[in-house]
Amino acid sequence: MAFPERLLSQTTRTMGVSFIREMLKATKGVEGMISLAGGLPSPDSFPKAQLAGLFKEVIEVEGADVLQYGASEGDDILKRQILLHEGETAVDLDEVLITDGATNGIYFFSRAVIDPGDIVVCEAPSFNGSLVAIEACGAELAGAPMDEEGLIVERVRDVIRAKRAEGRTVKYIYIIPEFQNPSGRTMSLARRRDLIRTAREAEVLILEDQPYRDLRFYGERLPCLWDLARSEFGDNHTVTICKSFSKILGPGLRLGYAAGPAPLIAAMAKWAQKVIVSPEGVVQRAVARFLERGYMEPHIARITGIYRSKRDAIIVALKEMMPSGVRWTEPEGGLFIWVTCPKPIDTDALFSEAAKAGVAFIPGAKFYPPGMERRDEMRLNFSYASEADLREGVARLARLLERS
Ligand SMILES: Cc1ncc(COP(=O)(O)O)c(C=O)c1O
Repeated sequence: MAFPERLLSQTTRTMGVSFIREMLKATKGVEGMISLAGGLPSPDSFPKAQLAGLFKEVIEVEGADVLQYGASEGDDILKRQILLHEGETAVDLDEVLITDGATNGIYFFSRAVIDPGDIVVCEAPSFNGSLVAIEACGAELAGAPMDEEGLIVERVRDVIRAKRAEGRTVKYIYIIPEFQNPSGRTMSLARRRDLIRTAREAEVLILEDQPYRDLRFYGERLPCLWDLARSEFGDNHTVTICKSFSKILGPGLRLGYAAGPAPLIAAMAKWAQKVIVSPEGVVQRAVARFLERGYMEPHIARITGIYRSKRDAIIVALKEMMPSGVRWTEPEGGLFIWVTCPKPIDTDALFSEAAKAGVAFIPGAKFYPPGMERRDEMRLNFSYASEADLREGVARLARLLERS
């Protein structure tokens, strides 16, 4: 007997699903399929031996502590190590919340500030997994377009003005400034400053999502918005940052953190108490020891080497094989390339043809807030497939695009 849908809450019934997770299910394990679809890190990037040693040691030596219930805010030992690693001495421990990955931080942040119907301004396109988590908290998304320099701040101001004219409350701006998912773009320094100025003037918050920041292969590291707000604007309440160990150590660890104003972190911790009780004790301590022993820097150098080489391989393949008129971003870091096809190619329709041809990508429309979808774009991931498969995957796609 089918489970009666009416017994589910209204919120659950109308909640969006993560298209990416659904699409990954459809393409996973299919014989011969080359997936450029997911955002999976390379299994070669996981520091398995070091983590295995640390997990064993932490349980044996510190088991009485780490196998016990812990603080909802997270382990102070890990928080201290994170702040040391980030070179942050001016941040108090109560300005940091340990989370089960970045998604969990984005969810608690949204829970803490969103009333039903509030507006969250996001980049168009943006990461679908975060957008559905934000919407699940009752927010409505309003997208502002991007160009090569990232989010167009002028257009953010237009969106805020327009929503306020409709009598709506704009609560925060959700932004992925570095090697953005899906576009691979990085927001320029001038735009970062302009966005902070805009948020301060409009009295809205910024949620800065930074899972890829440490995966830079080329170019100069830019200050994050969280740093800029504090150092240049003397403002320690406008920006909250979410970071994640998913793309550095492994998403299976489910570990990340948020840093922001203490009262907001406390509000997020109130949600943590109810939803997760506390982050995983063993994982937190193992990662704290990983940082403390100085394993992180050489590890990041090793994995950025792996990803730089994969990024170069896919870009060479795109240059050699894509038909004329197809354009793509050349990111300085992260895991994704954004491809724009000459119209009238519809990448939603192309997805099933590509699956038959043994290559998967994510159609661009899946990354737009409702009503702003474009169908001529696609996201390619270069972190998971081998370099030979990246080349073959691009060749399969190029053949399809030539025929379309
Ligand atoms: C921009 C962005 N935010 C958040 C996440 C989720 O990360 P986590 O595994 O830390 O929840 C991802 C993962 O792909 C991402 O690309």
